[in-house]
Amino acid sequence: MRTIEHIDELSLYIEDIIKQGKTIGFVPTMGALHSGHISLIEEARKENDIVVCSVFVNPIQFNNKEDLKKYPRDIEKDRKLLEENGCDVLFCPIAEEVYPEQAKESFSFGKLEEVMEGAQRPGHFNGVAVIVSRLFSWVRPNRAYFGEKDYQQLAIIKDMVSQLSSPVSIVACPIIREEDGLAISSRNVRLCEEARKVAPRINQILKKSFSMKDNLSISQIKSFVIDEFKYIKDFEIEYFEIVDDKTLQPIMKKGENGVVGCIAVWLDGVRLIDIVRYY
Ligand code: PAF
Repeated sequence: MRTIEHIDELSLYIEDIIKQGKTIGFVPTMGALHSGHISLIEEARKENDIVVCSVFVNPIQFNNKEDLKKYPRDIEKDRKLLEENGCDVLFCPIAEEVYPEQAKESFSFGKLEEVMEGAQRPGHFNGVAVIVSRLFSWVRPNRAYFGEKDYQQLAIIKDMVSQLSSPVSIVACPIIREEDGLAISSRNVRLCEEARKVAPRINQILKKSFSMKDNLSISQIKSFVIDEFKYIKDFEIEYFEIVDDKTLQPIMKKGENGVVGCIAVWLDGVRLIDIVRYY
């Protein structure tokens, strides 16, 4: 596996790959890699000649300085994991090259960004779109792989690709879970032992609500989930919304599109998200 830090070195490499007629699969990450990321690498491996993974903790998508400071970083561990899992190139650019000056791009995602993560974290999705569009322009992938756990991010990136008329195909990959059901996330390591024991309740409650979906209305499912969290003192619920799977707008009854429940909760000072697909 090759490690590339500089954008001009990456450009020369990519130029050569494209000249050879090879396809490129891309997995953008912020590092602290885990089995969720590895599942994206594996998917990219199946469908492309070359797999590039980027590791860059993107400061402009954090609207909480503490969260940025606490974000786990271990590039040597990441490098080893990528090498063992068939990645061809680790691209870990330095911040001065990614942002030689303050980013000026300004994306607008309309209603897609007015709900859930977008409502709670102003500027977050603009920061994500800026870095992902820059990475796409340097890596020039045929396909890019994103996990469904960050469901709204996935919708935003699909929208960004369409706004930019970008040729990159966005591939959505299923959530990878621990054996106890907790969605795998780089943030899980920040949970203390006690909190880690409680954390699987998120998925258990969502699963229970799924099992009740044929007997309850959407607003009853929503109340059920919110009430369940109220009974467990460790959790503070930030939002739970049941949304149309394309527009991400909260719905009261099922329409033509699919229906997804999206949740963000605080546990032990750590913000965790998860989703459940009802239809
Ligand atoms: O999902 C993430 O890890 C980040 O938001 C991404 C897509 C790598 C952009 O920094």
